[in-house]
Amino acid sequence: RSSNFVRIFEVGPRDGLQNEKVQVPTPIKVEFINRLSRTGLKLIEVTSFVSPKWVPQMGDHVEVLAAIDRIPGIRYSALTPNVQGINKVLSLGNKGADEIAIFSAASESFSKKNINCSIETSLQRFNEVTRIAREKNLPVRGSISCTVGCPYEGNIKPSQVVPLVEKLFDMGCYEVALADTIGVGTPKSIKELLQAIQSSGISASKLAIHCHDTYGQAIANIAQALDMGIRCVDSSVAGLGGCPYAKGASGNVATEDVLYLLEGLGYETGVDLNRLIDAGQFIMNILKRENMSKVARAILSK
Ligand code: HMG
Ligand code: MG
Repeated sequence: RSSNFVRIFEVGPRDGLQNEKVQVPTPIKVEFINRLSRTGLKLIEVTSFVSPKWVPQMGDHVEVLAAIDRIPGIRYSALTPNVQGINKVLSLGNKGADEIAIFSAASESFSKKNINCSIETSLQRFNEVTRIAREKNLPVRGSISCTVGCPYEGNIKPSQVVPLVEKLFDMGCYEVALADTIGVGTPKSIKELLQAIQSSGISASKLAIHCHDTYGQAIANIAQALDMGIRCVDSSVAGLGGCPYAKGASGNVATEDVLYLLEGLGYETGVDLNRLIDAGQFIMNILKRENMSKVARAILSK
């Protein structure tokens, strides 16, 4: 793969929907994912194996994975916070996930609110999860929340993030996504974060960036990350999303906007913008919400 290729990691069905108060019917989620599967996307995070008491919206994880069309070449992924989660995924066999994600945080308070344990305890759990995954040859992606700012602790320093990135790679993650959970970063803080990680000997080509657009900085931050060698971007179609444990975290950066940026900069993605807009409109019509992608809105109003 040439370095001109950027992978888009679509998180709409998971990060996008997890915050929805009203339960989205499973067949709608399945149709949404099937539409995303026809856009050229190769990585789709479809659900999470977390406690349904904590995130009721993702409680139909088994049913969603069982019903979606599996398009060859697409990896359907799911979040797993603990051994219970990965064991459930593995018990589903070929109706399980093609890869899983473990999710840590650079802020102690956020870790407790999100997964009910300290960062240290979460790392012990993730060690177990990755050990099991390695035995089964299941790829594991790591993600770190609050890498530039935390809703409870304010600014986060790169020195709080670097050791975590190292630990997730040591466990065997094939990639680590750096999340700006509440969208407070600017190109300057993203640059400082990436410089610190690169100084520790980790290549930007092994990292992904996961931006929420709360302060409207996501596209600028992604452009900065691309400039520094990052080649995987997390995004959510129509800008859907937020985190239930990060008050004020608005939607993820919209996939349509990311695609427009990437095409404008001359990167290849293999993703079709019109089909993406169709998938975004499908889910926004169901949710009776205005599309939050500026690119989708501009094109639809032409
Ligand atoms: P806990 O209460 O400490 O766990 O929760 P526990 O082990 O004591 O179990 C309590 C209950 O949960 C038990 O059920 C378990 O069976 C059940 P009960 O006996 O009471 O009936 N349970 C599970 N059920 C299904 N699947 C599981 C599972 N584990 C336990 N895997 C736990 C700990 C992590 C489970 C909980 O805190 C939780 O589910 N949190 C939700 C985390 C979450 O989904 N957050 C949002 C996603 S992360 C995110 O959005 C950020 C990201 O986008 C990057 C960014 O933007 O920052 C990735
Ligand atoms: Mg997120």
